[in-house]
Amino acid sequence: TYKLAVAGGGSTYTPGIIRSLMDRLEDLPLSEIRFYDIDGERQSQVVVAAKAVIEEYTDKIKVIDTTDPQTAFDDVDFVFAQMRVGKYAMRELDEKIPLSHHVVGQETCGPGGLAYGLRTIFPMIELIDYVEKYAKETAWIVNYSNPASIVAEGVRKLRPNSRVLNICDMPVATMRNIAAILGVEREELEVDYFGLNHFGWFTSIKVEGQEKLPEIREHVYKYGLLTEDISKIDYRHADSSWIKTFKNIKLIMDHFPEYLPNPYLQYYLFPDYIVETSNKDYTRANEVMDGREKTLFETVKKYEETGILEDSFAVGVHGTFIVDVTVSLAQNLGKRYLVMVENNGTIPNLPADAMIEVPALITSDGPKPEFVGDIPYFYKAMIDQQLASEKILVEAIVEGSYEKALQAFTLNKTLPSAKVAKAVLDDLIEANKEYWPTL
Ligand code: G6P
Ligand code: MN
Repeated sequence: TYKLAVAGGGSTYTPGIIRSLMDRLEDLPLSEIRFYDIDGERQSQVVVAAKAVIEEYTDKIKVIDTTDPQTAFDDVDFVFAQMRVGKYAMRELDEKIPLSHHVVGQETCGPGGLAYGLRTIFPMIELIDYVEKYAKETAWIVNYSNPASIVAEGVRKLRPNSRVLNICDMPVATMRNIAAILGVEREELEVDYFGLNHFGWFTSIKVEGQEKLPEIREHVYKYGLLTEDISKIDYRHADSSWIKTFKNIKLIMDHFPEYLPNPYLQYYLFPDYIVETSNKDYTRANEVMDGREKTLFETVKKYEETGILEDSFAVGVHGTFIVDVTVSLAQNLGKRYLVMVENNGTIPNLPADAMIEVPALITSDGPKPEFVGDIPYFYKAMIDQQLASEKILVEAIVEGSYEKALQAFTLNKTLPSAKVAKAVLDDLIEANKEYWPTL
């Protein structure tokens, strides 16, 4: 049996992830689950819900709720990392400050994502160091913490030998929608994909050896990447803003029909349109705070009063995916998933030290990427520019360099000019004073 820690235990995702783990106890038997967060009060609330879920399955798992790293990570086999530095209050600013300058306001893309990256690198490194100090030598950190692309680059640069597997549920969520459109199970899809995190393309989508990309393309021209029956898309992405995001894939494919894009590419390719259609006063952070976060704390309160858990925290791709990947790590299954790896020749015409998102076989030794080959110039050019923005941003925080931060912002395709980049950066620096003392 394994001991597993959840770092960022106070996340709204925790109860759902716990249900995914409980559904898979045969494949990943657990003796202990440790919840670790720097906000102990918030975490304790969430752990009430997590424990209620665990009790539906078993009374054999020891649960620890702690803010002490040693207690959390001592002798663990796996750590699920899902920290959100600055919580939703800072996400709101990451979204609203750029929008106030008529620039894309998004938690992982554009200036908001860069700001979130600047906040997250050092806390992530601190977590890795704790895990390396206390956990088993063979322990893996399976990392969902955002902005994943920048976090992956920071980890590569500062802790190159650490056992961190960086993952994102967007490729798999996109595959969920593709499967719903084709009327097949997600597991039946065989896909090829390349890119950076939140910046990639599906180049092939096969079912039983048959290429389905043309069929998907025709569907997207009419409806976006959505089915008429939205219930086929799990609750994680059923909010109106996510529906809009999947609809907008039509806009991308109308212009660039070759491959199926990751939904996040809309922020880079159509920033003007995104800004026009955004509400500057009520962003996704508000939606999440008023929705998922509020519901969770209300559910906990009611549960404490009545013993009835009103939300079942149903499992979606977000929970399933992290457990799938971890089972493959634990059992050395070598299953093929889309994850982040260091390039090292997988895409020969991109830098060897780029953290790319591609298909890889997940073994106990880590991800083994499949050779992709050279990519066409358009995609390479886009990726090179985005990669430079992210790499320079990591240098900026490591060196405490304002100049480099401005270079990173200026290179980001969501920003129309150096003048605007500077104005947004300066406002974000003001808002992040306590997080970036050196910038
Ligand atoms: C997707 C992305 C994650 C992101 C999440 C935000 O799942 O892959 O990286 O954090 O969406 O979702 P939310 O519901 O919080 O807006
Ligand atoms: Mn993601």
